Amino acid sequence: MKALAERTEGLKQSSIRAITQLLEGVDGINLGQGICDMPTPDAIKSGAHRAIDEDRSIYSHYGGIMPLQEALKKKANEYNQIPITSIDEIMVTVGATGAFVATMFTLLNPGDEVIVFEPYYSYHCDLLKAMGTKLKFVRTAAPDWAIDFDAVDRLVTDRTKAIIITTPGNPSGKVWSRQDLETLVALMQKHDLYAITDEIYEYMLYDGNKHVSLASIPGAFERTITLSGFSKTYNMTGWRIGYAVGPEPIIAKMGLLADLIYICAPTPLQYGVAEAFGMSDDYFKEMGEAYDRKRTLMCETLEEIGFIVPWPEGSYYVLADFSPLRERFEGFEDDLSASHTLVEKARVGTVTGRSFFEDDINGASVLRFCFAKEYPILEEACRRLKEAFPAT
Ligand SMILES: Cc1ncc(COP(=O)(O)O)c(C=O)c1O
Repeated sequence: MKALAERTEGLKQSSIRAITQLLEGVDGINLGQGICDMPTPDAIKSGAHRAIDEDRSIYSHYGGIMPLQEALKKKANEYNQIPITSIDEIMVTVGATGAFVATMFTLLNPGDEVIVFEPYYSYHCDLLKAMGTKLKFVRTAAPDWAIDFDAVDRLVTDRTKAIIITTPGNPSGKVWSRQDLETLVALMQKHDLYAITDEIYEYMLYDGNKHVSLASIPGAFERTITLSGFSKTYNMTGWRIGYAVGPEPIIAKMGLLADLIYICAPTPLQYGVAEAFGMSDDYFKEMGEAYDRKRTLMCETLEEIGFIVPWPEGSYYVLADFSPLRERFEGFEDDLSASHTLVEKARVGTVTGRSFFEDDINGASVLRFCFAKEYPILEEACRRLKEAFPAT
């Protein structure tokens, strides 16, 4: 038989799934995958029920149903300060992932170079590799994940076309400051680069950090595609509704591509998520407070055990360094063994550090913990961790 397409060669199942399977056998708690298993708000659920009952079930325009596009335009203007003036600069997609795919296909050719910051969200890189682009990495390090913009500048060649950022970051929790973003925009202008900015954790912020959208910085909008979605903010990862915001000529091509790939995001579910915009702003306040409490519990527990913990500024992950545990416990030689040890001894799942770096070695002493869990479940996970790895 003839070989499959070359782009499939590097694809393999992530270690997240292997850990999930191990956990299933031991009544484990999964702090690995970022699936936030809290309930979806009732307003959204009943909006979708109504749409289904009323048979609003046909394909929508590939850019999304108009009321949702209108609501997203208002949100992009008011929350993100992105200067769009028309719903043609908005596109509803199948998850932020669908938006990323459409953006990538629209902006990039195989062989183009793309700059990515480590630690990264692996879907971005795996998709870019499947697309045949060449990735160039800029490392950032705990505790502040500062960006070395000179390193970025030095990496740019004639073939460099785009730069990917994620703010707040997964897995670092870094929130890009206005100054970071202004420096980035200067580089984008200097080298004529596009940016794809994934802002799906834009409402999960701690310690007074504010979310600043790259596209709100003067000079950025015309070369920036902003991605976000409903999965995380409204606990609905399985609904698969996201969106992209950007200049109309780019969004128009993205829409044509998305139309070919999947026609539109599921119509009744679009009606459901449109209801999110009628909810009180207290929702964000309460969500923020709840995550802050969970962040404290998670980070304090890990610190008590002996991890080095860079408290995240945003998102709901912590990438913690277990190297101090090696002196006191067996099974922490590297991230793979540490992740298995946590399943075996504490029945808690995590993600191996290597999942966020190009070279495995750079993630060899870290694990990612996701604290998007119901509080009592997170408490139980923390209790198990403390019991299995008592502080000295
Ligand atoms: C940075 C980032 N972007 C996108 C996604 C997926 O978003 P969606 O469910 O909207 O496709 C995730 C999920 O973990 C993520 O961490």
